[in-house]
Amino acid sequence: MPDPIVVVGGDSMVGRHLASHLRMQGTEVLATTRRREQAAAERPWLDLAESPSLDRLPANPGAIVVAAAVARMAACRADPEGSAAVNVTGPLRLATEAAARGIPLLFLSTDKVFDGARPDRRSDEPCCPVSVYGRQKAATEAALRSLPGMAILRLSRVIAPEDALMATWAEQLRAGQPLAPFSDLRMAPLPVDLIARLCAGILGRLADDPDRAGGVWQLSGSRDLTYAEAAFRLAGQIGADPALVRPVPGVAGDEPPARFTTLDSGRAERSFGIGRPDPDPVLDAVFAGV
Ligand SMILES: NC(=O)c1ccc[n+]([C@@H]2O[C@H](COP(=O)([O-])OP(=O)(O)OC[C@H]3O[C@@H](n4cnc5c(N)ncnc54)[C@H](OP(=O)(O)O)[C@@H]3O)[C@@H](O)[C@H]2O)c1
Repeated sequence: MPDPIVVVGGDSMVGRHLASHLRMQGTEVLATTRRREQAAAERPWLDLAESPSLDRLPANPGAIVVAAAVARMAACRADPEGSAAVNVTGPLRLATEAAARGIPLLFLSTDKVFDGARPDRRSDEPCCPVSVYGRQKAATEAALRSLPGMAILRLSRVIAPEDALMATWAEQLRAGQPLAPFSDLRMAPLPVDLIARLCAGILGRLADDPDRAGGVWQLSGSRDLTYAEAAFRLAGQIGADPALVRPVPGVAGDEPPARFTTLDSGRAERSFGIGRPDPDPVLDAVFAGV
């Protein structure tokens, strides 16, 4: 039996979908949790903020995916130190151990390593984050690049039917309540199943040829739309009164909202035939499930 793939952050949206995708492919998976009461043989306890170590795992990993994070920009802004422990220090501890043992690692990152001023960012452009979250991810990326066997996957907004924001919007609209989506915050949405497929593909390549599969991968939707535009689309899809959608500017302190979140995704397309999806069908598929 080959060594299992360890998904750090088995309770995250992406981690959950990735773990089940890998299991469906017949891959053995250990999906970690930081919830002590949920820890079990296949759910080893691992908290990125509490000196995480591969020694705590019940088996030697064949590969590691770091999907756990403080992934909300406002949460990083509110607690820069606490979130850095999870987004920077913890992943780098694991990566350093992994590199020393020759275990490949895939780190999930974000379009927020860029400033959002231009679309279609290339993976070789210098990072220029303007948020605490983006700076943390960029710092982790920079340190990972000096270690062997490391891959980074930058993603734009990932959505799934269980997405709390979309579910809340649908609930409010169905109840005839107004909602206030951001008029100046943009996303290029990606379906979570596609991300699970891409991660699985990258992990496969990392196992075969870590040197060639390492470095930066990117995937985004094909174009940006505002959260307000997405909310209007949802109202149309569920037959709600569009007057209930009342856009407001985003409040982000001194972090300017990104005008563009799209990423050049040529490497994923060439390697796996996974191209940038158009946002409309991506949103419609998720809205059909909320
Ligand atoms: N979702 C997106 O739109 C998006 C876009 C670009 C990049 N990404 C990146 O993709 C990855 C997955 O994102 P996601 O949206 O799936 O995440 P998510 O649903 O927000 O989940 C984050 C997970 O991290 C866990 N976590 C938080 N602090 C932790 C700690 N100290 N130790 C261990 N686990 C901890 C949380 O555990 P609990 O469940 O127990 O709280 C939660 O399950 C993240 O790296 C994120 O930055 C996401």
